Amino acid sequence: MSMLKILCCVLLTCHLSMGKKIRGNREDQRGVLRVNELHVSSSVFRLFLEGEDTCTLDPLQLHTLTSCGFNSSNPLIIITHGWSLDGMMESWVHRLAATLKEALTDVNVVITDWLTLAHQHYPTAAQNTRTVGKDIAHLLQSLQVHFQFPLKRVHLIGYSLGAHISGFAGSYLEGSQKIGRITGLDPAGPLFEGMSPTDRLSPDDAEFVDAIHTFTHERMGLSVGIKQAVAHFDFYPNGGNYQPGCDLQDIYEHISTYGLLGFQQTVKCSHERSVHLFIDSLLNKDKQSMAYRCNDQSAFNKGICLDCRKNRCNTLGYNIRKIRSGTSKRLYLKTGQRMPYKLFHYQFRIHFVNQMVGIEPYLTVSLSGTKEDSGDFNIDIAETILGNETYTFLITLDKDLGDLMMLKLRWEGSALWKKMWGRVQNFIPWGRGQKTPVLSVGHIRVKAGETQERTTFCAMTNDGQEVEVSQEKTFVRCKEDTSKKHRRRIHN
Ligand SMILES: *[C@@H]1O[C@H](CO)[C@@H](O)[C@H](O)[C@H]1NC(C)=O
Ligand SMILES: *[C@@H]1O[C@H](CO)[C@@H](O)[C@H](O)[C@H]1NC(C)=O
Repeated sequence: MSMLKILCCVLLTCHLSMGKKIRGNREDQRGVLRVNELHVSSSVFRLFLEGEDTCTLDPLQLHTLTSCGFNSSNPLIIITHGWSLDGMMESWVHRLAATLKEALTDVNVVITDWLTLAHQHYPTAAQNTRTVGKDIAHLLQSLQVHFQFPLKRVHLIGYSLGAHISGFAGSYLEGSQKIGRITGLDPAGPLFEGMSPTDRLSPDDAEFVDAIHTFTHERMGLSVGIKQAVAHFDFYPNGGNYQPGCDLQDIYEHISTYGLLGFQQTVKCSHERSVHLFIDSLLNKDKQSMAYRCNDQSAFNKGICLDCRKNRCNTLGYNIRKIRSGTSKRLYLKTGQRMPYKLFHYQFRIHFVNQMVGIEPYLTVSLSGTKEDSGDFNIDIAETILGNETYTFLITLDKDLGDLMMLKLRWEGSALWKKMWGRVQNFIPWGRGQKTPVLSVGHIRVKAGETQERTTFCAMTNDGQEVEVSQEKTFVRCKEDTSKKHRRRIHN
């Protein structure tokens, strides 16, 4: 792991040290574009047809648009790649284009090819993002003038440096109209983190901006993906640091799949996950990943953020609800290792009542619903429970259980506690028939993030709350819970 990370960092930092600032003179670089100005594009735009087939557009000769098959009554999506190490178009570009075309049918998909400007030292490539942004702005302006193509029907999707390019394209188009939507897929961090909104992707660049942050793990003060929020909705899957299935352990799997390319694939795995999460949202319409507004990942892990009131939750990817607001919203979610990535989020709230002996319980829990059973999962409560306490945590499952009906709980004890108990028994002259310590569990509340349903579980028998080590206890919906639900149904 560390070898690889050091390699990446050395690569990145030496690239960074070769150039200083990318911020040039803003007066020169920004400003309203002039339509008649003969703009020679440094980027190449290709209309995606199918498979590997594309048709190159010449923004100066707009008849090429129609002969390529551009249909001005359909919306336009422009995909823009990022920094290039080898000068080759990465394979996800065509995959995303094909998926968009297939899922949306009546759409123009254009690929920005800025490989010659991207296959440079990182700071040079980063500096070139303004040039490419300007090229896109010119293309859009030509479309506006010659086809009355409205900017609000344009959706720019940019990966890494391409995200900032899309932002610059938006900011060059100063007029009453704005680009409809910009999606930043793990927008690049180095040389953009902490910059003013005019020097990176920002919510001002389009009517609606969303971003997916997947590789913000920081090393020597730098992260590949930008950490700060840059959109109206910023998604941080799995906290945004790195992604499940992208560990170095998986390098062997990658090498067997991609050959030696697997090495590079592993380096890019978390960064590129942003793209595959987006593709997933187009491919698996019935498995849309839901994300929840939260202050940070540790609060999210406690399960306290699974709230959808006041637009606190939203769908990750193409089908996001486009609600605009002044401030950036940070949304969190957990995902699986491979497509479909969707996981179901459950918040657990266990009430411990009058717990006499301080315990750090290790529990095995299973849930049964009307559709599925969860199977066993473990909960390690790494806190001492004493007196009356509520412990809250997040559980994710890869299946929808339906309405929750039953919960089974077993206290596995803890290695530490067993040792302690052995010692305590030696010191304290308890009789042989003395009761062993018990865990006093009151009711358990479970809230499903995806359905917003709350269920309260009570112990099934009247001996109720007390759970001994290795004893399995069954909890069912509390009576009040069932009748309340019943009443609600009748009222509805
Ligand atoms: C353009 O797309 C529309 C559907 O949005 C279709 O009805 C029309 O025939 C297309 N035009 C051409 C020239 O293909
Ligand atoms: C816990 O709450 C119960 C009432 O629900 C009360 O009788 C008991 O004294 C409380 N225990 C502690 C340790 O606070």
